[in-house]
Amino acid sequence: MELRPAYPLRTARLLLRPLTVGDADALLSYRSLEEVCRFVPFEPMSRAMIMEKLEGRWAQTAFTAKNAGVILGVELADGARLVGDVTLFQRSELHRCAEIGWILDPAHSGHGYATEAAAELMRLGFQELSLHRIVARVDARNGPSLRLAERLGMRREAHLVENEWFKGGWSDEIDFAMLETEWRSDQMLRGAAVIGPPASPVLGVPSGSINSTSVSSVASGQCSTPRGTT
Ligand SMILES: CC(C)(COP(=O)(O)OP(=O)(O)OC[C@H]1O[C@@H](n2cnc3c(N)ncnc32)[C@H](O)[C@@H]1OP(=O)(O)O)[C@@H](O)C(=O)NCCC(=O)NCCS
Repeated sequence: MELRPAYPLRTARLLLRPLTVGDADALLSYRSLEEVCRFVPFEPMSRAMIMEKLEGRWAQTAFTAKNAGVILGVELADGARLVGDVTLFQRSELHRCAEIGWILDPAHSGHGYATEAAAELMRLGFQELSLHRIVARVDARNGPSLRLAERLGMRREAHLVENEWFKGGWSDEIDFAMLETEWRSDQMLRGAAVIGPPASPVLGVPSGSINSTSVSSVASGQCSTPRGTT
């Protein structure tokens, strides 16, 4: 089964929409920075790398059997300015589990944009993809990202001590998660309208076409950025 979300996804201040080659300059302005890449599993990007991604994997915007993850640009609704990007990718079809990630242009940090975009992506995951569980994996030294996961209401589930050799040293990983039932309760508490019945599998694809092993194998590296998606 496929899900082709109706883009753009809209929030109070933002649009979430597919990236295009017209975003190359904006993407380069923050994805080329050392400070942005400190805790993500890729190095600062060149324009050529960004163009290759834009014309390749980042152009995939539907959840299908062959493409179980998307990356979306985060644009200011009133200014048509790209301020970051967010990603959601399947970790296990069987367990209806996906991982979420976020990157913001530091010029636009401190306004809650990343939180707002990630919250909308979680809505998509639980409400439209019928996910059971969404996780985030964060380097223990990445304070802004830890706070973001907490603002989203995700539960801090694990502290993995020196579990990865990461950019020249051992890193600790903090694992966060939220269940679909928890998300619905949270939405009720926040007074948001949650449309639709509790989940039934939508993200699922024909058995054998994608499995947890194959997805996990491309999704190693913490900070919610699968190597194939970054
Ligand atoms: C992680 C990252 C996206 C967080 O960016 P951010 O600007 O702190 O996050 P938000 O846009 O949600 O803004 C939240 C901040 O703005 C403040 N804020 C101001 N107005 C706000 C609002 N309306 N709503 C929510 N927060 C608001 C919050 O208090 C918070 O600041 P604090 O953490 O100092 O308390 C950013 O640091 C980043 O891109 N890092 C590099 C990439 C990376 O490491 N990604 C994560 C890999 S796991």
